[in-house]
Amino acid sequence: LRVIAVTNHKGGSGKTTTCVNLAAGLGEKGRTTLVVDLDPQCSSTNWYSVPNGGRGVFGVFADEAELADLIEPTEVKGVSVIPASAWLATAEKTLAGEIGAETILRRKLERLESSLRRSSSRRPREPEAVTIGDYLQYGEKDPDKLWLAKLREAAPEERDRMQEERRQERTERARSTLYDYVLLDCPPTLGIVHINALAAAGEVLIPVEAHFMTLIGLGQLFQTVDLVRERLNPALRVTGVLPCRVDIRTRHCQEVLESLRAQYGELVYRTVIRENVKLAESPSARKPITLFEPRSAGARDYRALAEEIVAQESRG
Ligand SMILES: Nc1ncnc2c1ncn2[C@@H]1O[C@H](COP(=O)(O)OP(=O)(O)OP(=O)(O)O)[C@@H](O)[C@H]1O
Ligand SMILES: [Mg+2]
Repeated sequence: LRVIAVTNHKGGSGKTTTCVNLAAGLGEKGRTTLVVDLDPQCSSTNWYSVPNGGRGVFGVFADEAELADLIEPTEVKGVSVIPASAWLATAEKTLAGEIGAETILRRKLERLESSLRRSSSRRPREPEAVTIGDYLQYGEKDPDKLWLAKLREAAPEERDRMQEERRQERTERARSTLYDYVLLDCPPTLGIVHINALAAAGEVLIPVEAHFMTLIGLGQLFQTVDLVRERLNPALRVTGVLPCRVDIRTRHCQEVLESLRAQYGELVYRTVIRENVKLAESPSARKPITLFEPRSAGARDYRALAEEIVAQESRG
């Protein structure tokens, strides 16, 4: 389980875009990811079209809920989400004076991991295999397609029951999966929720807009990470700076990339995310770029990033 905080206190640097599309890219490679939306704007919750009627992840900060009970399945392979809610904006007030407020998320994540380790060893992670009888009758080997074939033939009242049953099944599966990755989509403010993310994570992934101003803000962010490491989370390290919205044709962008690499060296991912209008359009389609425009530059870039993230594991 790699817990990665996707963070940058500068707004609009590509945090949400990276969480949503990296998770989808990892899913294509057969990995499972839990995206935890920590932003009261609920951008990644909405992008994945996950229902966010309740208080969502705020419930764990208010100590009303466990993370496991908040996990929602998505239509994207290998990806589940813990939704945010506007309540998160009140976390600062709710947690004022609370002892250990900065490490609530860490404790809840540890609890989630140990409960999943216990339960997922007993439960199959994959959906039920297709039986020979079903295969002969419907000619489908893929469980999802088989289900659709059955749905098409079902009577209308039977359909509702089938859909509800499937929703429950998928939710149960999402809540019993031992995920490979947890991606924390951080808010653009350096408040208590953001500190919780840094205290809970093993790694920090920093998306930066390829612009001169980012170079200044980045130093501050590294200082914050150092401080959190010193005081709250000795294991925390920055595993990557990700240049986003890169327009390779402009001289300005080239220079920013060069100074990033000069200053942070190996910490800068080889993958850069190019400026791609399809990335900006995909939230309104409620799909990650890999499903919305599988051949776009954006999809290719996030696949390359997924590849690089996975490769970090063999480097240790
Ligand atoms: N590579 C890209 N090409 C084009 N547009 C992009 C790209 N990456 C991000 N954007 C757009 O830039 C804006 C900011 O991106 P995003 O929401 O991912 O940033 P953020 O860091 O999560 O913002 P916030 O701090 O508000 O949470 C969005 O409108 C998004 O669609
Ligand atoms: Mg965001």
